[in-house]
Amino acid sequence: MIDKINELLQRVEEFTPKNLAEIEDFRIRILGKKGELTALMEAFKSVAPEQKRELGQLLNKLKTTALERINTLREQLQDASADNGATINDMTRPGSAEQLGSRHPISLVRNQIVEVFSRLGYTVADGPEIEDDWHVFSALNFPPEHPARDMQDTFFVEKNPDILLRTHTSSIQVRTMERQKPPIRVICPGRVFRNEAISYRAHCIFHQIEGLYIDEGVSFADMKQSLLYFAKEIFGENAVIRMRPSYFPFTEPSAEVDVSCNLCGGKGCPVCKGTGWLEIMGCGMVDPNVLIANNIDPQKYSGFAFGMGVERIAMLKYGVKDLRLYFENDVRFLHQFDTAL
Ligand code: DAH
Repeated sequence: MIDKINELLQRVEEFTPKNLAEIEDFRIRILGKKGELTALMEAFKSVAPEQKRELGQLLNKLKTTALERINTLREQLQDASADNGATINDMTRPGSAEQLGSRHPISLVRNQIVEVFSRLGYTVADGPEIEDDWHVFSALNFPPEHPARDMQDTFFVEKNPDILLRTHTSSIQVRTMERQKPPIRVICPGRVFRNEAISYRAHCIFHQIEGLYIDEGVSFADMKQSLLYFAKEIFGENAVIRMRPSYFPFTEPSAEVDVSCNLCGGKGCPVCKGTGWLEIMGCGMVDPNVLIANNIDPQKYSGFAFGMGVERIAMLKYGVKDLRLYFENDVRFLHQFDTAL
């Protein structure tokens, strides 16, 4: 029996098939139900007990060698056929082009906005996404019963004391005033969270950019000029802006800013709903109550603040009609912005 095993082992080691079918044949002949190894295993049952140890080890070795040999040969032949056999060593074959990724349009627009304001002397400030009531609402002059604090709008992490996901980047204004004395000139990009139903124009996570400028003698005219400069840089030299009176708890007076529609040049089209104007941000003079809450003397200092949605600016700039596209990460959408900036 030992001779038989050794002879079979030698045949396994020397086996060189030409194709996958030959391997399968070989496998059946050796390992199949009626195969040679199976027959040897059967015969093993009736060998004398003193021979069992030696023969058992040999049989095991034969079995693993046969299995390994069959698997390796199969893989080799499969690899070769995938490569058509001949191209493995073809050094002259041109390399395949690597697909390069691109920046997300929201990052592109955020970077551009930050860059425009950095030319006006603004530095970037940051703050946490998980905030407390003070930084998101109270220090910004929200009265206790203001609806924005409601569960409908705000994602709460804990109640009493309230810990929540910031609903706007205005919280970074407060963080900055805590850290820094005037003059302050910061731009604050970040993610914000609101409990909104997701639709083509709203999402529960989006991006905002907040701006804050505080110094002696800062006026509404300064704000208007800065925001006009911003609009021209983002929407083109011919852009003009208008301001409509509005209300925010943290600014007084407050305004909403419209830019002339860059798609129709202000003549009126479906995107601007025939008005020729597109709303791009909220702004205003920092309310004295906000300065007092943050230990800044309103007699000495004044300032302005503004806040905008990055998705909205990107939609207007590129004519994207559904905000959800920015979150789906479909490369067919994203690759359109490869060379956008
Ligand atoms: N925080 C406001 C919002 O989320 C946006 C905003 C409006 C920010 C006016 C400001 C501002 O700083 O002055 O809708």
